[in-house]
Amino acid sequence: MVDKIGIIQEIQDTYKIIGRTEELKKIILAHSVGKNILIEGEVGVGKTTLASAVSSYLDSKFYRIDCAEETLTHNLIGYFDPPLVIAKGYIEDAYVYGPLASAMINGGCLFINEINRMPESTQNILLTALDEKILEIPKLRTIRANEKFFVIATLNPSAHVGVTVLGEALKDRFIWIKLEYQNPEEEIEIIKQEVNFDSQDEKIPKIAQEIIQITRNNTSIRRGSSIRGAIDLAALMTQYDNTSSTKNWVDAAVMALYNKIELEDGVNKSKKELITDIVLAVLNKADFQ
Ligand SMILES: Nc1ncnc2c1ncn2[C@@H]1O[C@H](COP(=O)(O)OP(=O)(O)OP(=O)(O)O)[C@@H](O)[C@H]1O
Ligand SMILES: [Mg+2]
Repeated sequence: MVDKIGIIQEIQDTYKIIGRTEELKKIILAHSVGKNILIEGEVGVGKTTLASAVSSYLDSKFYRIDCAEETLTHNLIGYFDPPLVIAKGYIEDAYVYGPLASAMINGGCLFINEINRMPESTQNILLTALDEKILEIPKLRTIRANEKFFVIATLNPSAHVGVTVLGEALKDRFIWIKLEYQNPEEEIEIIKQEVNFDSQDEKIPKIAQEIIQITRNNTSIRRGSSIRGAIDLAALMTQYDNTSSTKNWVDAAVMALYNKIELEDGVNKSKKELITDIVLAVLNKADFQ
């Protein structure tokens, strides 16, 4: 087997990816046997970061689509531009290729961000494209995919609101890679990379990481904070003169985390109280005194 370590190191360096060595290995492995890749994980776990780094590393021809409930087939395939059709008729010059068609023609990578938000009718277009490597464009042409064409998609677990179910048939056509939360040391590195710190603020990223870590394990909280909560909290803290003040930490934590966590039903404390409790518990620990 080819040694992938060099490649992985290069991806980590080029795209400033912290850790994720195992996951990157799996992605490169799946790609080397010609498979399409689906990266699944909680909100903010690094899906987009990893997928876009790998796909732009693997192929300079990189086509991206960010899905929404309104993503229709023409957003994937392309469309005839009405004024051009009037002027020239249904010819190729009047056609604007979408990311799927372009990736198939040019043998590039199609990066589908949040594929679970794509309506089912749009998902169906992908099925034949992935299976038979064929795409039919009515009134224009049939595209046969260049052999280098491949897809990397990201998926949020279906438990969250605003998410449609990804069809079984479509899922069946991908290799699945799951992203879990990274370990505290790596998360601290990510926070340091995202926020500008003075050297005296060494404890800020540590405290911020520990606070979000607790939100993920607290039984009153259904959905804890992603790394984004810690990044926001740490960034706010750098703006206070007194970074040892409990009040400042509580204020910043409420601002940073309020909309990033969801409480379990029937919890008799407010979000603010819970966040305050967590902040106090962390600040009272001996290492942060
Ligand atoms: N391994 C990592 N190395 C460096 N930065 C990272 C890493 N993982 C996540 N990040 C950073 O954390 C933030 C969230 O990551 P990202 O947007 O990739 O998450 P996501 O899983 O796509 O989130 P969502 O589900 O909300 O789309 C970004 O600022 C990103 O730069
Ligand atoms: Mg994302």
